[in-house]
Amino acid sequence: MASERDVRARLRRAGQEHLLRFCAELAPGPRAALLAELGPLEPDALREHCRRAAEACARPPGPPPDLAARLRPLPPERVGSASRGDPETRRLWEEEGFRQIALNKVAVLLLAGGQGTRLGVPYPKGMYQVGLPSQKTLYQLQAERIRRVEQLAGQRHGTRCTIPWYIMTSEFTLGPTAQFFKEHDFFQLDPGNVVMFEQRMLPAVTFDGKAILERKDKVAMAPDGNGGLYCALADHQILEDMERRGVDFVHVYCVDNILVRLADPVFIGFCVLRGADCGAKVVEKARPEEPVGVLCQVDGAPQVVEYSELSPEAARRRAPDGGLLFRAGNICNHFFTRGFLRRVTRELEPSLRPHVAVKKVPHVDEEGHPVKPLTPNGIKMEKFVFDVFQFAKNFVAFEVLREEEFSPLKNADSADRDTPTTARRALLAQHYRWALRAGAHFLDTRGTRLPELPSLPCDSDPPAICEISPLVSCFGEGLELYLQGREFQSPFVLDEDRARALQT
Ligand code: UD1
Repeated sequence: MASERDVRARLRRAGQEHLLRFCAELAPGPRAALLAELGPLEPDALREHCRRAAEACARPPGPPPDLAARLRPLPPERVGSASRGDPETRRLWEEEGFRQIALNKVAVLLLAGGQGTRLGVPYPKGMYQVGLPSQKTLYQLQAERIRRVEQLAGQRHGTRCTIPWYIMTSEFTLGPTAQFFKEHDFFQLDPGNVVMFEQRMLPAVTFDGKAILERKDKVAMAPDGNGGLYCALADHQILEDMERRGVDFVHVYCVDNILVRLADPVFIGFCVLRGADCGAKVVEKARPEEPVGVLCQVDGAPQVVEYSELSPEAARRRAPDGGLLFRAGNICNHFFTRGFLRRVTRELEPSLRPHVAVKKVPHVDEEGHPVKPLTPNGIKMEKFVFDVFQFAKNFVAFEVLREEEFSPLKNADSADRDTPTTARRALLAQHYRWALRAGAHFLDTRGTRLPELPSLPCDSDPPAICEISPLVSCFGEGLELYLQGREFQSPFVLDEDRARALQT
């Protein structure tokens, strides 16, 4: 470990020596911890980080004034659709996706390094369960969907195939996530195919460019944004691991969408057949102020403009058909070829511009007393995963239906939207629709048939509670076998045991 003298010299070079101002009074343990935290910070990079933060802060707040004039919607020829268009083309995409999966060429990569501050739980969001009858957590639902897609691809092509699961964590989420997977026996996945790796952390900085001490013995550090993915891929040789396994295509997604379709064969097949190096799923934005980024073009290049950076006027603009002009809502489901990721990590990552978030950062005052600020006092700098879209040689977008694919868990139940309740409803409404489509009927506890509402809005409770295990069906496929013409009492859980019993 670096000595105090070394660390002090490095910090001096970075203009951040104040971080050691309480060092002399610390007991040996906390002092060692502080030095261990500061040791790896490279002085020039730290100086640059703090300089950029102060510079960004000196700019007027809000989006660049000329941004709105540089925005255009994506040209229609770049956008495919899962629901519009002819079923035969969709079938071909799906077939191609399954073929690539069966060849072991597809991996999924979960972005799970975020702190989940809005949800307000002290553990990683993936460990959250929204109150389904099965009590499954987000991680378990995702693991089971992976297993099911492997099984479906294997059945079609007579192979045993693997979809490796890469999970990017951060200092906050790695320990508990790894522990949770161990405790749950990796949800019956082969642990050798679940690869966790950690993103970097960056110090939060005051408005005048000084890194902040959270405690006398701890710097206020935050993960470097989900665009920290590209440095983390390089730091941990993840692309080399993918190459060894023969992975060519990667589906990157965020942790909190309860309806996420992992390694979605239709999306993968669409991107592969279009020869894309980079792609993104989108849903139609529900309302101008919905907190989703919009996929559009900036100066002719594909880009997501984040909700925090789009002016309300631009968000409200209408197209000639009356819909929102910038309606392609980013759902953080991206497709990349390994070759594209290699280009980014080798050449392009340093040119990604960090985004600035002004935050209330807990810190210590000059006497070392803890302070919980009531107004913003610091800046966190983050890179965004989608900022690489501008480098794509062949970018495509893929529009999907919100009620089938997007219900994010962002907030606690005290909020109106994107809460545990709305996520649970969205999943149960979907399973209820799938069951009706497969010919099921539902009864209440007295045996009376419940009303059948196939086009139920996803923000209301379905008349019957029906949860289908992803291990039985993950896209609504194959349910007729168990449900056709049968009556079930609500609540009904179709898990593997029940499915076996219904088949005999
Ligand atoms: C994100 C998207 C937004 C999209 C919305 C859809 C980004 C930057 N923004 O917004 O365009 O409309 O989802 O729900 O992608 N994460 C990390 N490391 C970090 C920070 C975040 O891995 O340092 C992960 C989170 O764990 C999460 C994902 O990135 O899985 C998205 O992060 P979050 O902060 O929830 O993004 P949103 O603001 O909701």
